[in-house]
Amino acid sequence: MLGKERDGNMLYVTGDTHGELDIRKLNTTNFPEQYSMTKEDYVAIMGDFGLVWNDGKEDLYWRKWLADRNFTTLFIDGNHENFDLLKRHEVVEWHGGKVQFINDSIIHLMRGQVYEIDGKTIFTMGGGTSIDKEFRKPGKSWWPDELPTYEEYEEALRNLDQHNWKVDYVFTHTISNNIMKFMRYEKEESELNTFFDLIEEELTFRHWYFGHFHADEQVKDNYRLLYIDVIPVQP
Ligand SMILES: [Fe+2]
Repeated sequence: MLGKERDGNMLYVTGDTHGELDIRKLNTTNFPEQYSMTKEDYVAIMGDFGLVWNDGKEDLYWRKWLADRNFTTLFIDGNHENFDLLKRHEVVEWHGGKVQFINDSIIHLMRGQVYEIDGKTIFTMGGGTSIDKEFRKPGKSWWPDELPTYEEYEEALRNLDQHNWKVDYVFTHTISNNIMKFMRYEKEESELNTFFDLIEEELTFRHWYFGHFHADEQVKDNYRLLYIDVIPVQP
């Protein structure tokens, strides 16, 4: 992109960061594209952000590290988030949907929203199931809020209605039963996966990006599982 005429905001997508564990994909060595980016450009993380975990030293260090990058960080929530802490952030309107600012340049894209960025629409629906939840402690390393509430599903449907069930991109953490079956992944089943079965049947979308399964793979023509790769959205 360097030296080229800029045409609107750049939007990159990547997979789970899990706090500092998988954040190095966003350093300048692994993601040199950021040299030609600005705060008007975005990198969106497909859940398991993990840096609103305890507001401790590590959270604050890496949040500042992200703020020092040449891009604005967007994230949807996954299943490994501290939802009690996340809830404390004020909800504001941004590009047509609800968000929470974690700092000036880290923005939580909430569930069931449709945003419009640079003429492109994005439907977001975080959440997922921790398959290891029996080994986790409620309120310490596991939260029932990892799955959406009835109201959040309702809000998603309402917002999709308003956009006549047509968006450019879909950002989710987990994915439909249909796509899991296609990937031969059978460990998860929740109403969220079933909800996505319904959504993908009704919705016209250009490309669906998701995380959660810790692999990088193009699935069918227009589903992209993300983990380490940091890629621009399909134009
Ligand atoms: Fe994850």
